[in-house]
Amino acid sequence: MSQTQAPPPVQEKDLASYRRDFPILERVVRSGAPLAYLDNAASTQHPRVVIDAIEECYQNYYANVHRGIHTLSEESSERYEAARRTIARFINAVSPQEVIFTAGATASINTVARSWGDANLSRGDVILLTIAEHHANIVPWQQLASRVGCRIVFAPLTEHYTISDEVIRQHLENDRPRLFAVTAASNVLGTVFPVARWCKMARDAGATTLVDAAQFVPHHRTDVQSLGADFVIFSGHKMCGPNGIGVLWGRQQLLEAMPPFLGGGGMISKVTTEGFEPAGLPDKFEAGTPPIVEAIALAVAADYLESIGLDRIQAHERELCRLADTELRAMEGVRVIGPTPDLKCGIVSFHITGVHAHDVAQQLDTRGIAVRAGHHCTMPLHRALGLSASARASFYFYNTREEVTRLIEAVKELRTRFAPTGRRRRS
Ligand code: ALA
Repeated sequence: MSQTQAPPPVQEKDLASYRRDFPILERVVRSGAPLAYLDNAASTQHPRVVIDAIEECYQNYYANVHRGIHTLSEESSERYEAARRTIARFINAVSPQEVIFTAGATASINTVARSWGDANLSRGDVILLTIAEHHANIVPWQQLASRVGCRIVFAPLTEHYTISDEVIRQHLENDRPRLFAVTAASNVLGTVFPVARWCKMARDAGATTLVDAAQFVPHHRTDVQSLGADFVIFSGHKMCGPNGIGVLWGRQQLLEAMPPFLGGGGMISKVTTEGFEPAGLPDKFEAGTPPIVEAIALAVAADYLESIGLDRIQAHERELCRLADTELRAMEGVRVIGPTPDLKCGIVSFHITGVHAHDVAQQLDTRGIAVRAGHHCTMPLHRALGLSASARASFYFYNTREEVTRLIEAVKELRTRFAPTGRRRRS
């Protein structure tokens, strides 16, 4: 997950062709303005190939997987397992058995908390998180802590919205955490943390590591082997795939040693009235009917992203981020919540003095610009920053420089229209 030399950014003609792949980008919104979709950290849009894959499955070969000895079930089972192989290749897993399909990134973390956490942590143990975590990488550990009596410690941010190696090293030495669960890229700050380095430090200190890569995998080439974590999780709907699917990658040895979390059909090798024996990987963690169509379409999305090139995607988003960040930072009364663009991905969060983030988002919407406003499921982070809410623009490879310019012009106008008299709501 290192930031190596960026390749040349996406050219205008490529961009036009990518945009044609996404029917929704042609929409106009309520106000009649053309859509500028800058809410990609919440969820990305879907290219035609993904929409077609979903339709093709339902139309031609949909059936439940691993259950029926009939043509459709065999076809859908084969496509479902092929999807697992594609995702394993996409993240360079050692084996497809290390790839568990879940209901989403949140379900992936909860699976680790319930299964690995309940089996391995007990009273007095420490879990190390950072203050930049999404609620999905906080609450499951808080629930675990209240079940088993372990303790959670948060590594703080510097004033530059980063966290130094030294702070992590001190926490590892002083708190001796059993688990270090950390985001690879903050969904608010955009900070890309040096998680490969931190995972190595944590392993050397005897901690198990989980990387929340929900904001990383869709935008960067990801190699779970060189990353060196024990668990990596991400979701489908942030990488042009359907919602309702996420991935839990884990080291095979760890996953094999873990008890299943959800019980039901498909996750057993034998059931008697006395008890059950769990199936092997990956079925052990896929109780019930899995997200069949979603997995198949996610693999199509992964192939689509690879056909563009993850390095080019990253380079293009960085360029848009640099443009937006520089302009917003230069505006009086606008605070950019995050580090300088060289340290972050395509996310720019900001606060306009005297204007609530919800008003910002609502006003931008009247100009066709979709951004997210609120605490972005990071209340502890916002509290540490002295804010209750922020506005966030987040880019993907199909966004244009012109859309960023529209955002900048709209924010300038908002500042002059709203900031002096300030309809001050909440924060
Ligand atoms: N986690 C998503 C976001 O940050 C929903 O918007």
